[in-house]
Amino acid sequence: MSLTVVILAAGQGTRMKSARPKVIHELAGKPLLQHVVDASLALEPDQLITVVGHGADQVKDAMQEQGLIFVEQLEQLGTGHALAQCLDTITPGNKVLVLSGDVPLIRAATLAQMVEQDSEAAVCILGFKPDNPFGYGRIVRHPDATVQAIVEQKDANAEQLDIDECYSGIMLIRGEQLQQLVTSLDKHNAQGEYYLTDVVGIAVGMGESVSAVLCDDPREVSGINDQQQLAAVEAIYRSHQTELLMKQGVKLYDPARVDIRGEITVGRDVEIDVNCVFEGVVSLGDNVRIGANCVIRNTSIGAGSDIKPMTSIDEAVIGRGVSIGPFARIRPGAEFDDAAKIGNFVEVKKSRIGKGSKISHLSYIGDTEMGGGVNIGAGTIVCNYDGINKFKTIIEDGVFIGSDTQLVAPVTVAKNATIGAGSTITKDAPADALTLSRAKQVTINGWSKPVKQKEDN
Ligand code: UD1
Ligand code: CA
Repeated sequence: MSLTVVILAAGQGTRMKSARPKVIHELAGKPLLQHVVDASLALEPDQLITVVGHGADQVKDAMQEQGLIFVEQLEQLGTGHALAQCLDTITPGNKVLVLSGDVPLIRAATLAQMVEQDSEAAVCILGFKPDNPFGYGRIVRHPDATVQAIVEQKDANAEQLDIDECYSGIMLIRGEQLQQLVTSLDKHNAQGEYYLTDVVGIAVGMGESVSAVLCDDPREVSGINDQQQLAAVEAIYRSHQTELLMKQGVKLYDPARVDIRGEITVGRDVEIDVNCVFEGVVSLGDNVRIGANCVIRNTSIGAGSDIKPMTSIDEAVIGRGVSIGPFARIRPGAEFDDAAKIGNFVEVKKSRIGKGSKISHLSYIGDTEMGGGVNIGAGTIVCNYDGINKFKTIIEDGVFIGSDTQLVAPVTVAKNATIGAGSTITKDAPADALTLSRAKQVTINGWSKPVKQKEDN
């Protein structure tokens, strides 16, 4: 039987105290809803429907181009009402897996286990036993242990509040019963909402059976309703990622002080010092060392490269045996060939730096094509921008640029040229020659130092 996945994501998320819809708040660098979408796609469903409502346009923008079907819930009258909006869209007869946009760590394998179990039950719910059940719906069972109902926190009596088995926000409903169950919901409850959770009691009342799958890792189904829960789930994600890295042989000086907010692949004998943040897709080759306090995003770093402390690298391609930092800023479009050396307080943007070239201190290099074996003196600046347009600088192999030089683009410094320190280069510099532009040094004899003037009262 074919599968339709419905992700409920129309709520505002009042408890987040934010102007942005809850489901687009980020966990590990991507929207909560995106995590749920990714787990759903792994099931290859026939239809993937997302119910949007509060901030619908913002949510749709954040989720572009993934073949999602959006159904709008104009008024947020509850989770049951949200699913009801999809009844006309769901292919009749499909079984429906309902997910919550605010339960982001759910694994595709757990969902597959629910979908694949060949049960007669009209409804199958995913339960778990959280350390603190406050806020979750409790799964009420008959004395013979069969599932009877789900009771929401606000509707539960003292005895029900003691139940440790909670509803995760994830359920599977058989196609045959879907229409009847969802249209039978009412809002006679503490919150005056159409609770999807009531389908359990309704199914039982109709003489149908309801099954429950227990998710043995409660962390996987932690829901996010407020900033504290978001931080807690971020910590769960982080510790999972650092565990994986250590299993692959990475030396983490302190796993609690590394943030992985995306996907990271590593070679052998990689070392990562404290307080590093990795975002997006990052790959680190064999023997790469990342010093303390680095932020690295969408970058590949070749074997043996050494990233020294306090370095920021964004969308760069870094070769083997490269040394960067401390205190370097590498911006999108930087490409470093093997053995390049970038020192402290150097910024590089959209530039290719050839093999073994060195930019050791206090420089800005942007929109530059640099050959190999180049030495850039301290304080060299490429003037690539005239306020309106950006221009290219070409520095060929073997060039030596003296300290405190400005290269006013567009300009080319040809092979093996030397530029004298303190020059402002506005015209192309020829190969193999010394070029400099500098006022002659003079000494003014008889000059005297200014004297301090008397202050007026
Ligand atoms: C819900 C469950 C609760 C369960 C918990 C698990 C109900 C009534 N309660 O409670 O039993 O333990 O999840 O995390 O289902 N949404 C809509 N439209 C609405 C209301 C909500 O799309 O009108 C969406 C929200 O955006 C959210 C999800 O449904 O993604 C869950 O809503 P939320 O208000 O967070 O429910 P909980 O109180 O957490
Ligand atoms: Ca919730």
